Amino acid sequence: MEFETKNNIEEEKLQFYYIELLKEQVNKFIDEHSKVPTAHIETFGCQMNARDSEKLLGIVKAAGFKEIDSENADLVIYNTCSVRDNANQKVYGRLGRLSTFKKKNPEMKIVLCGCMTQEESVIEHIKTSYRFVDIVLGTHNIYKVAQLLYISYIGKDNYSPMDEDEAGKYYWHKNMLISHWDMTEKIVENLPIERKYAYKSGVNIMFGCNNFCSYCIVPYVRGRERSRDPEEIIAEIKKLVADGCIEIMLLGQNVNSYGKNLKNPISFAELLRRIEKIEGLERIRFMTSHPKDLSDELIEVMKSSDKICKHLHLPLQSGSSRILKAMNRVYDKEQYLKLALRIREEIPDISITTDIIVGFPGETKEDVDETIDVIEKVQFDNAFTFIYSKRTGTPAASMEQVPEDIVKEQFDRVLDCVQKTAQNQIKKMQGLILPVLVEEVNKQDENLLTGRLSNNTVVHFKGDSSLIGTIVNVKCVDYKGFYYLGELV
Ligand code: SAH
Ligand code: SF4
Ligand code: F3S
Repeated sequence: MEFETKNNIEEEKLQFYYIELLKEQVNKFIDEHSKVPTAHIETFGCQMNARDSEKLLGIVKAAGFKEIDSENADLVIYNTCSVRDNANQKVYGRLGRLSTFKKKNPEMKIVLCGCMTQEESVIEHIKTSYRFVDIVLGTHNIYKVAQLLYISYIGKDNYSPMDEDEAGKYYWHKNMLISHWDMTEKIVENLPIERKYAYKSGVNIMFGCNNFCSYCIVPYVRGRERSRDPEEIIAEIKKLVADGCIEIMLLGQNVNSYGKNLKNPISFAELLRRIEKIEGLERIRFMTSHPKDLSDELIEVMKSSDKICKHLHLPLQSGSSRILKAMNRVYDKEQYLKLALRIREEIPDISITTDIIVGFPGETKEDVDETIDVIEKVQFDNAFTFIYSKRTGTPAASMEQVPEDIVKEQFDRVLDCVQKTAQNQIKKMQGLILPVLVEEVNKQDENLLTGRLSNNTVVHFKGDSSLIGTIVNVKCVDYKGFYYLGELV
């Protein structure tokens, strides 16, 4: 299937119009309450969601809301994640707390969006158990947040849709406005964005996922894979660089399959080559790479580039070929090992990090032995280790589940092994002087700055806050766990 992947200018114009209408509601609020309405956005989940939250915040700030760092606000938006069940449970817990704020401030608006609300069963649960939620929207239509807020402020009885088409895009359940789309071919860019960091930014290069790993809910909640037009990506990055960004992170569920569904297909490696030429851009990162699509061309580009960071996040999920097959990962243990070891050989200073799931249905101790074997052979620099979580609607949900106590035991073995390889890797940098992009004042100790090496290792060191957003040389003096204490040179 081919999707139009260019920005939809008509929709963009319409949304600017709704931002203006929402502004009128904000002004009315100011007249009535003698204060500017406050907004708080909470992000659960991955970089994709974090970027979406910047878009949501940009829109509500453009309409006149003031951002605050508290949930006791006039507008609270939860941008949710559903990759594991504990992410859902966390949101339900937090919603309970929000209801107490809403009792004190009945005019408060609560918006639920993101991956959880792409699930019909979640929407049904919200309708019955969390009736105080005002707006429910998913992942495909967050660009419509100004429109939906405007309609919610005006109220069910006072608002009439502009046309049939618009009316079909949402419905009311009592006073709850629900806008649930299974899929969209529209991409709406150029709406206001409020970036969290001045010097770095995420840039979506694709949306959705076609891989259908048997445990994973993402393809169901993020829709089919759509790549953005390369010219529009380049234009966005140039604008970010002109605005002071020196590092960008290209975002997608499977970035190395970028470009396949474009009218004029280009490879991810080719996109990187084009981005690299942008003057003033210093660092390029990307997330996430699927081992099955990692090409020789990409290794070549990474090897020869000064701007592409020496870090590759390459999710393994399992080291057992039998389990990988059941997971529908399309590579086996040998192929992963061959690939990872070749990358280590070609790019010796690269860090390789990974994701591992323990407790996938049918996983035995012997399967976990295989996972541990891969961890030891690749010597991962770091790994996110997850306990398998059953996601309704995915093929793995109907497979035979592993008892919890066995999973816990195996999980600890994997974690232990990852910690060892991470220590082996971080040790190697001791004494080296390396460039660090200074990110912020250390959260625990304000005398320290925090930054990142090209390989993504965090370094803390003494320095002046004026260095934030610049690249400086730092000597890696002493490592503690996963980070370094360094000295500015
Ligand atoms: N698109 C990315 C990752 C998306 S989700 C990729 O394929 O690499 C991030 C990670 O969450 C996955 O890599 C996987 O390790 C984990 N994950 C996904 N579904 C899960 C589930 N049902 N239970 C436990 N972990 C899961
Ligand atoms: Fe999920 Fe697999 Fe797609 Fe990653 S590649 S988002 S794990 S289905
Ligand atoms: Fe979670 Fe959705 Fe990201 S399910 S991991 S927020 S794509």
